[in-house]
Formats: sequence, structure tokens, C-alpha cells
Amino acid sequence: MENRNQTPEREQWGSKIGFILAASGSAVGLGNLWKFPYMAGKNGGGAFVLVYFIILFLVGFTLMLGEIVLGRHTQLNAIGAYRKIRKNWAWVGGLGVLAGFLILSFYSVVGGWVINYIIKSVTGGLYSSDPKVLGNIFNDLVSSTMTPIFYHAIFMVLTFIIVLGGIGGGIEKASKIMMPALFIMIVIIAIRSMTLPGGVEGIKYLLVPDFSKINMDVILNALGQVFFSLSLGMGCMITYGSYLNKDTNIPQSAAIIPLVDTGIALLAGLAVLPAVFAFGFEPEAGPGLIFVTLPAVFSQMPLGGLFAFMFFLLVLFAALTSSISMLEVCVAYVVDEWKWNRKFTTILISLAIFIMGVPASLSMGPWSHITILPGKGFFDTYDYITSNILLPLGGLLLCIFIGWIWGIDQAVKEATNNGTLKFSLAPMWGVLIKYVGPIAILIVFIRSFI
Ligand code: TRP
Repeated sequence: MENRNQTPEREQWGSKIGFILAASGSAVGLGNLWKFPYMAGKNGGGAFVLVYFIILFLVGFTLMLGEIVLGRHTQLNAIGAYRKIRKNWAWVGGLGVLAGFLILSFYSVVGGWVINYIIKSVTGGLYSSDPKVLGNIFNDLVSSTMTPIFYHAIFMVLTFIIVLGGIGGGIEKASKIMMPALFIMIVIIAIRSMTLPGGVEGIKYLLVPDFSKINMDVILNALGQVFFSLSLGMGCMITYGSYLNKDTNIPQSAAIIPLVDTGIALLAGLAVLPAVFAFGFEPEAGPGLIFVTLPAVFSQMPLGGLFAFMFFLLVLFAALTSSISMLEVCVAYVVDEWKWNRKFTTILISLAIFIMGVPASLSMGPWSHITILPGKGFFDTYDYITSNILLPLGGLLLCIFIGWIWGIDQAVKEATNNGTLKFSLAPMWGVLIKYVGPIAILIVFIRSFI
């Protein structure tokens, strides 16, 4: 481990399940637990979920497989992978590294809120089921100046400490324990939330689509959410795939990861939205939704305080297994391409991300009057530019790259380990990545910007 820079062999995952857990660890994070419920709440509930599913099947699975295959084939970081196959495509990988950098800078701010909520749950500061009280607790936190920046700093420090631990040691070990624990907790919370008086309304809101609510905004938001939640479009899965050994069954992994990810997002929705209706919160409340509704659920559970503590702790772990993947993409690039020292690079990039995140944090309070895009402050602008533009654009270019530049035959050869694995959906995958994916993304893009 210590001789990382001297050893010629590239590090690899310790086991097959290690890769699936780590890649699911990257996918499952604040995107599922924090963003999915509030995006569903904001974009019409069932209508959003339906569109999300369609995009997941058409684009999500396709790109997941594409990224992992490209990563393992080249054994390189996002930029190096493109460059190895076609020199003048390296900038596409660069776009991804930029996206990761930007996402992490606001992601870490939310991670900071989570750390603060862990502490609040211990000190008893969350014990209420009154929407007003819980709303004020959240607003007081995010709108103050120093406190959220302080916790944002702690989150970044935790992230770089794990990344410094390396692939097998840090990332893989952490995922193995935390992912299953998170799953069990969220199932319990969802059951409690759904059985609250009036909770059924929330289940209906989430699962029964109201077709009149589907419009271009909802579709673009769902597209962005699929990319964000699956960690696609920025080379994250290229980088993780590059640590895979040559006999892993990639098509199988590429199917399992989106299923796990979507399962957890739906469970988070089922934990949050029934409570929204049971306690009279607003489904459209936005980024504060899980922070105000779940404490109300905990207040209705035996040992609720303990539960709150354990839950926010696991949310933090899930956020960390995602944030490390974003930092890893940036670090892997600089270490592979510029041959910088890994430790130094990790610290420097973490510091830069922290600084980028400060305006995002301030835009929730003291800087809320500053707008960058129309009606959007720093936080919302980072989110919009990455989820709704950079990631889908990265995905579009990846489809074109694999389908038309590298070639389906090559990609399928890699996916099937030189034809030794059965992958009966290969012809369909070819069509999806060559035609359906790019056209679908392009249509959503064009329609929503004109
Ligand atoms: N998917 C993670 C989540 O849901 C966030 C994330 C990690 C991500 N790596 C990414 C998003 C790469 C986009 C691209 O929280």
C-alpha cells in the first residue's frame, strides 16, 4: 500500500463483491437519500418517478455498462481512457473531472449539514414533530455563516482521509460494512413512515403518476437525477472500472448497481413522502425535505433519538462513499497524467473543493441575494450546471464515443471478456448506446433550452 507510486502494477479491487459494493457505494449517496425525495416532491411525485424509470432503463443501464467497460479496457482514469483510444477526445474526460470537482463542492456542504444533524440528534435538538419547529431548525443551520462552513470543512477532511487510505484499504472496506447497514435502517424507517396515519397519501403521491404533470422541466430534472444518482457522465465508473481485473462479469455488475441504487432511492422516497403528508409538510419544500420530515418520523418511534443518530450517521457514510469517488476521479487524473505525488494532490484538490464550496454554503443565507443563473444562487447553479448540463453532456459524448469511435464490437469484446462470457443483450445494448441514448439525451437537451 505505501509503495503506491513505486509499484508498477495498478491496484485492483480485492474481490468481485468489493467492486459491486464500492461502485454501489459511489452511486448510493445524498443523491438517493437527500435529492431523490425532494426532486420527486418538487416535480410532481409519481410523474417524476415514471420518467425517471424510463430514462433509467434507456440510458442509465446503457451508460453504466459503457463506462465500466471503457475503464477496464484502458485501465486508466477518465481522461487517459479517452486519450488512449482517440487522442483528441481527452477533453471529454476533462469535462468529467470538472463536473466531479463542482459537484463535490456543493455535495460537501450538504454532507456538512448531515454531520451537524448527527450532533443535533445526540444533543436532543431534533425532538419535535412540529413542521414549523423542524423547519426553523433547518433554516437556522443552513442560513448561518460560519457553522455550515465549519461542517463542510469537516466533511472534506473526512473525504480526503479515506481517499488517502487507497482503493482496497479505505474505500472497499468502508463500503462492505456501511452499505448493508444503511439498507436495513432505511427499510425500518420507511415502514414506520408508511404506517403513520395519513401516510398512504404519500405512497400514492410517489407511486401513482399524474400524467398532466409531465413537462420538459420534469424530464430534464429526471434525466439529471439519473446521471447524478448513478454517478454517471463524469468518468466515475470509468475510474472504478479501471481497477477491475479481467475476469469480472461486467454486464452483471452493470445491472446490479442501478438496481441497488434505484431501490434505495425509492425506499428513501417511501421514508420521506408519507411523513410529508402525515405531518402536513410541503412536498415542494426543496433541499431541506429530509432534514425536516425524518426527525418528525423519529419522534413517533420508540428510541427515536437513537434511531435519528444512527440514521444520520449512515447517511454520512453513504455520502462519504460517494464523495470519495468524486475526489478519486480528480486525484486519479492528476496522479496518472501529471505524475504528481498522491498525498499532496489529494490535499491540494480537497482544499480547492472546500474553497469552491464556501460560496455554495453562503448562498443559503448571507449571500442568498446573489444570483448566478436566473433565479439561482451559487448552490443551485452548481447543481444545475452539473446535473442538468455537464453530466448529460458527458453521457451523450460517451455514447457517441463508444458507439461510433471506439466501436460496439470492441466494447462488446471487452464486456464479454473476449467472448468467454454470455451477454445475450449485447445487440440491444449496441442499439441503445449508438442510437437511443444519444438521441434521447439530445432531444431533452434541445427541447429544454429552446
Ligand atoms: N451518485 C452519488 C449520489 O447519489 C453522487 C456521485 C458520486 C456522483 N459520484 C458521482 C454524481 C459522479 C455524479 C457523478 O449521491
